[in-house]
Amino acid sequence: MRTIEIFDTTLRDGEQSPGVNLSLNEKVEIALQLERLGVSRIEAGFAAASPGDLLSVAEVAKRVKDATVISLSRSKTVDIDKSYEAIKHAVNPGIHVFLATSPIHREHKLRMSKEEVIENAVASVKYAKQYVSHVQFSCEDAGRTEIPYLAEVVRAAIAAGATVINLPDTVGYLTPAEYGNMFREIRRMVPEVDGIKLSCHCHDDLGLAVANSLAAIEAGVTQVEGTINGIGERAGNTSLEEVVMALETRKDYFNVHTNWHLKEIARTSQLVSRLTGMIVPGNKAIVGANAYAHESGIHQDGVLKEKSTYEIIKPETVGYKSNLLVLGKHSGRHAFKGKLEELGYHLESEQIDKTFAEFKILCDKKKEVTDDDILALIDAKMAEQEELYSIESIQLAYGNQTTPTASVRIVTSDGVVREEASVGNGSVDSIYKAIDRAVGEDFTLIDYRIVSVTTGQDALGEVFVRLQQGELFSQGRGVSTDVLEASAIAYVRAINKLIKQRGDVFEPIA
Ligand code: KIV
Ligand code: ZN
Repeated sequence: MRTIEIFDTTLRDGEQSPGVNLSLNEKVEIALQLERLGVSRIEAGFAAASPGDLLSVAEVAKRVKDATVISLSRSKTVDIDKSYEAIKHAVNPGIHVFLATSPIHREHKLRMSKEEVIENAVASVKYAKQYVSHVQFSCEDAGRTEIPYLAEVVRAAIAAGATVINLPDTVGYLTPAEYGNMFREIRRMVPEVDGIKLSCHCHDDLGLAVANSLAAIEAGVTQVEGTINGIGERAGNTSLEEVVMALETRKDYFNVHTNWHLKEIARTSQLVSRLTGMIVPGNKAIVGANAYAHESGIHQDGVLKEKSTYEIIKPETVGYKSNLLVLGKHSGRHAFKGKLEELGYHLESEQIDKTFAEFKILCDKKKEVTDDDILALIDAKMAEQEELYSIESIQLAYGNQTTPTASVRIVTSDGVVREEASVGNGSVDSIYKAIDRAVGEDFTLIDYRIVSVTTGQDALGEVFVRLQQGELFSQGRGVSTDVLEASAIAYVRAINKLIKQRGDVFEPIA
């Protein structure tokens, strides 16, 4: 059975989703979970994009132990240098160089002849090769490239030392038959590809990314690229959990296997959704909330008699389990630490103490503390580590016949306190206006969503916000049993991220 290597680009192509901006800690957290999931190649980012991107690729490279950690580079020496700087401490480092090959890109974007593209690709692969042995070369927009010319580029890149050749359908234009045929033709015209890894990378503009990736596997590809939950540029990338579960469920047809630990799928999907703020639609295959729910009476009757009548995947296979009540206010630190480990978190002793203290406070507010509550607490603690501003207190005067007024106390990372008040068009608006005054800046709120983390009247509420300031976007999350507090935390975290993106030297407010 062929093994299909899974190349995850959630942290690079996935992070290119409009409005998504992950912090360094969030990227590390996702990378470690991807490793638990069994991903063998993690594209941690595009190191040359900004000093912040370089730092986070470097941190992921240091923390990941088994998977190959890869940085994307344009076909330019400066990018390749930055990529190497970022991944040089990885146990298994890799550099991914891309250059467009299609006539549209050659003429309008690159303004290069066919020969110049080949020369440039060869020089870049050779340049990257002096740093690392794992060099992937991607022919951007391969799907719209003349196949005989594509074969020439692939042959030249392999001769220059590329160990992986990736042929993306960058604009999500091809049909499964066309995409599969492209790989068959390349394998026929360039037999050398059978000595290296051949990779597919699809975008979902026509909703065909998963189907196209499966067609590529049928045509002999041995590496599939994509993202968790299918997030990414425009309509997104191939949804990796869908590809893996299609290969698993239809092993009889595809006759290939992957190294994924399937039970980690649900947790990975939920983590990516929480940290990116990209909510998974209920009807999404494999990881949607309704993916295993049976509504019609006829279906329910069938499932009660025999599950396989309407269920082709058991929810437990991908890690869904009922929300068990495992810890309560009588649980001690030891049991709590054990639970964290069971959930896949190995925190420092000091972090455990802090999270345990929050857990105890939550036990007083909530009768039942579930795994989801604990995951929400850990996420909140991780975000706190990077805070420039944090909320110390909020007070709100609200009546349905009066204009709400909020006053907030904000503290900077170096302990300066600022208190401000404001009226607003509603409770949340008054809090946000007061926060804007306290930090001395204006932000545009472009998205605001509340999700209930668990069920019941005392459920934790999770608020996602997206902010804009000029050209910059950021998102923030807040979790609390009180949605107004969660709203304030989410807003301040989004401000913190935006300030970091701006790269400001942080000047505490006087
Ligand atoms: O879609 C694409 O072509 C890419 C390349 C950078 C591989 O993401
Ligand atoms: Zn892409």
